[in-house]
Amino acid sequence: MAILLLISDIVPEEWDDAIARLAGQRKVRVWPYLDDPAEIEYAIVWKPPRGALKGFANLKAVFSMGAGVDHLVGDPDLPDVPIVRFVADDLTEQMSEYVLHHVLLHHRRHLDYAAQQARKEWRPLPQPTAREVRVGVMGCGVLGSAAAAKLAAIGFQTRGWSRTRKDIPGVTTYAGSDEFLPFLGGTDILVCLLPLTPQTRGLLGGKLIAAMASDGALPGRVVINAGRGGLQNEAEILAALEDGTLWAVSLDVFETEPLPESSPLWTHPRVVITPHNAAVSRPQPLFDYVLQQIAQFERGEGLNNVVDVQRGY
Ligand code: NDP
Ligand code: OXD
Repeated sequence: MAILLLISDIVPEEWDDAIARLAGQRKVRVWPYLDDPAEIEYAIVWKPPRGALKGFANLKAVFSMGAGVDHLVGDPDLPDVPIVRFVADDLTEQMSEYVLHHVLLHHRRHLDYAAQQARKEWRPLPQPTAREVRVGVMGCGVLGSAAAAKLAAIGFQTRGWSRTRKDIPGVTTYAGSDEFLPFLGGTDILVCLLPLTPQTRGLLGGKLIAAMASDGALPGRVVINAGRGGLQNEAEILAALEDGTLWAVSLDVFETEPLPESSPLWTHPRVVITPHNAAVSRPQPLFDYVLQQIAQFERGEGLNNVVDVQRGY
């Protein structure tokens, strides 16, 4: 009985050692090299081709290589087995670092200083402290709640919004559509860590930006998106940057990835771009997680972090 690896977009050299170690513990088959589909009991997948998971008669669970499962849940041929998403301290810590870095980068006006440096201009700019700045985290799940707690710990006035209410130390929490506008209305820097679902697609656009606070201690509104590119409307983000509704943006994810060379985002002076690497699923933590979950499942204790396929996350 074997584990199938069906993982696209990986750098093989970075995975070979970990795959060899995994193969020392369980029989491993790497897509598309498999002789006998009946031997596959578990699959670890990232962006599998539509229908690829069909036809494994003995499949017991599918593990997403990432925390997000939007690459999977739209597949009409998804097998009727538990879909488990990736949750690990390694991933959570990387995401918190990304969030803290980008919040502080805008808070400390890095884009202004980089522009001044290019002009060899020596000019200190007005600088509020963190306690004067309101950061709102959209999506207070595993990643968002950890990042929010750390933002609060370094002094930002931190608020979080999610579908159901959360209790996060030092963070004021908002829940559901009724509390969305009050949440946005007190947010200077918005951090988006929502999953991509039919409810969240396209949320980060002109209307949302205009609903953010306009009386903040920074010169303008900031949006940071490390959720999914499908959450954002890039044309409306650019328009908001142009008309001054938005002061700056950090984007790790895009409507089309890799971001096409023709995108005006690349060269906009108020845009910071990273290549969807805010939190990277590294093979060893991933395989450790999967093996631990399989062991637990085979002891009859069930699986953790099982996705609600209807809800989409
Ligand atoms: P979780 O499932 O733990 O958290 C998702 C959060 O979003 C929950 O708080 C949930 O609310 C909230 N949410 C979902 N839908 C809605 C909605 N319609 N309205 C309000 N709140 C909503 O996921 P993670 O924190 O582990 O990951 C979040 C996302 O981050 C992933 O789906 C993925 O897209 C992205 N990601 C990006 C990476 C990168 O490198 N850029 C790396 C890893 C993940 P509730 O808890 O109440 O259900
Ligand atoms: C994820 C990602 O979902 O890397 O984990 O985007």
